[in-house]
Amino acid sequence: MKIKECCTVESQECIAKGIYSMWISTKVIAKEAKAGQFISLFSKDGSRLLPRPISLCEIDREGGRLRIVYRVAGAGTEEFSHLKAGDEVDILGPLGNGFPIEEGKGKRVMLMGGGIGVPPMLQTAKDLGTDTIICCGYRDELFLNEEFAAAGDLHIATEDGSAGVKGNVMDAVREDHLEADVIFACGPAPMLRAIKAYGLEKGIPCWISMEEKMACGVGACLACVCQSTEVDGHSHVHNKRICKDGPVFLSTEIEL
Ligand code: FES
Repeated sequence: MKIKECCTVESQECIAKGIYSMWISTKVIAKEAKAGQFISLFSKDGSRLLPRPISLCEIDREGGRLRIVYRVAGAGTEEFSHLKAGDEVDILGPLGNGFPIEEGKGKRVMLMGGGIGVPPMLQTAKDLGTDTIICCGYRDELFLNEEFAAAGDLHIATEDGSAGVKGNVMDAVREDHLEADVIFACGPAPMLRAIKAYGLEKGIPCWISMEEKMACGVGACLACVCQSTEVDGHSHVHNKRICKDGPVFLSTEIEL
């Protein structure tokens, strides 16, 4: 069940260049939210800007709080980055279908996050417990790495080689000899494509979050349509809206 709620900003800080972490106090949305879901934040200038979809980084269900970690990438997120404790913000959520935590129970799970796909893996790691392998890929500057180190067995890749393995998350999987029974991942399309291929080669199910392609987040703009691998009896391929049908899919269900 999704609702629109007027929420209060509890705190906000810049945790890396252009990356902000905000805790938001909510009456209902936090209680309902699942790891891998997202919320849409409304700009004060509602007539000009569509609500911006932002994934949930942490969910404090008992305390009624949500944490989002996002990159400033346009007018909407720029506006949100100026919000301070006590400010109000309208939020619609929780949206999307989240990661199927039950698919990871009792299995060796590897969580993989790339760039701004890193934050949603934090609540996913917490919901799964501490036995997870976590593989985070960054361009250069690290963020949330200390919190991930406390949440599981953390492996890092950086494009510039300044920390961990030089390269991307798949380079870290190879160099650090990581093995898993199931993968949960979020990141840019080339990373998800590589993970899908790896999963097919090894026979490992991969649940991937395609949130990078979302725009309005509420089913209005169709910017997020992706091709499904489902074909009906008339050979018609079905399209899926990432914001409504996803953002989490089994990698074999969609064309990447
Ligand atoms: Fe606009 Fe899905 S993001 S319809």
